[in-house]
Amino acid sequence: MKIDLKTLHFDNAPKIITDVPGPKSRQILGLQRSYEGSAVTYSRGIPVAIEEAKGATLRDVDGNVYIDFFGGAAVVSAGHSNPYILEAIRKQEARLIHTLDLATSVREELVRRLVSLAPGDLKDNAKVIFGGPTGSDAVEAAVKLVKYYTKRHIMISFEGAYHGMTGTALALTGDTFFKEAYMPLGQPVQFVPYAYCYRCAFGLNYPGCGLACLKYIDHILEDPASGVCDVAGVIVEPIQGEGGSIVPPEEFIKGLREVADKHSVPLIIDEVQSGLGRTGKLFACELYGVTPDVMTMSKALGGGIGFPLSGIMYKKEMDVWRPGAHIGTFRGFLPAMAGGLAYLEFLEENNILEHVSNLGKYMLKRLGEIEDQSRLVGEVRGRGLMLGVELVKDRRSREPAPDLAKELRKECVKRGLIIEIGGHFHNVARFLPPLVLTVDLAEKGLSIFKEALRTVEKRYFD
Ligand SMILES: Cc1ncc(COP(=O)(O)O)c(C=O)c1O
Repeated sequence: MKIDLKTLHFDNAPKIITDVPGPKSRQILGLQRSYEGSAVTYSRGIPVAIEEAKGATLRDVDGNVYIDFFGGAAVVSAGHSNPYILEAIRKQEARLIHTLDLATSVREELVRRLVSLAPGDLKDNAKVIFGGPTGSDAVEAAVKLVKYYTKRHIMISFEGAYHGMTGTALALTGDTFFKEAYMPLGQPVQFVPYAYCYRCAFGLNYPGCGLACLKYIDHILEDPASGVCDVAGVIVEPIQGEGGSIVPPEEFIKGLREVADKHSVPLIIDEVQSGLGRTGKLFACELYGVTPDVMTMSKALGGGIGFPLSGIMYKKEMDVWRPGAHIGTFRGFLPAMAGGLAYLEFLEENNILEHVSNLGKYMLKRLGEIEDQSRLVGEVRGRGLMLGVELVKDRRSREPAPDLAKELRKECVKRGLIIEIGGHFHNVARFLPPLVLTVDLAEKGLSIFKEALRTVEKRYFD
């Protein structure tokens, strides 16, 4: 169904009519503080209680309306409560909800569609497995599969990577904020630097560096004395998401494919965040023309409105597990599968990939203008609607500014814009809006961002 994207949102965003948080929000936040555990995080930086959301807009319990550049951490790609997706989900809910992996037409149709839309050589030559419903579950399954396939056990992962919070996924996550010495993660991982050219681990500059980071991976796989043996797989985000929307040079991901092939090590591309349209391609690996051996999917897979579903897709020849080798009670949430099918149709019928690509370029250009006028912006980057603004205390020394990033988010929320914070140093303002964001809402959101940044900057330098 073709939808006019303008009709998907509250038509009065942004609208701030109380202090933020307003009195009703404060009351609900108080309840949260009393009863929920201290690990709760987002409502510390975004201290509002949300009542209703439409498209790329949210309304809190006090009647304030916000523009959503956060998109539920890249889950809500179709826009909050997208009516087209909701209708498909409701129809399925009324019919059949839970069957584990018993065959159903909606399940098999979703798998067929995914395989027909798969990147590169996976297209029409792949298998799909649904495990537990989260992105971390997909990562667990992907790693398990490469171990089955290679009968090896060490994983190579990247500094700054985020792969989730469960055992293996957490072990593969770079950010030591999430790790404690007394919590053995039980998964041997060799971390290597990502192509984070703004902060090159080797102190070099691209392209003069000759991609030293890629050569280093080749080196540790090549040199029998590198201490890294029995490598089961390399796992990489095609754009580092939580790491700060870092887009590596094209040759880095292409070269990684070649290095993995050279050493017969399967390449897992984690598309949990970057996949399903976020970058203007259905899967971000298509930006580089690279086919993964195994690919993870989640976030928008259940319809892009928040229904959880995850899965992995992999080359047919890797389908080596025996029946029951990877199971889980919630490996077949049919409403989410119906949502996923409707989502893929929605993307196609409304040319959403093209919209995302164009809008992303436009926003990047506008962010470049903001960068030119700001002393706190080190770099702006991203692809499609996966954008980042890295904040530094000083553009020459590039000293990270995590506290200023927090302040900036607060100033944005106060004015009616919700953003995410990420980055190796937690100093990157991240934009992951629903893919149905309009140019008008993007413009309004960027104006708020610019004003909020100016306020933080003035306070810092004055
Ligand atoms: C690239 C990537 N992989 C895995 C995950 C983990 O997904 P989940 O939080 O659903 O477990 C995330 C979450 O942000 C992610 O960005």
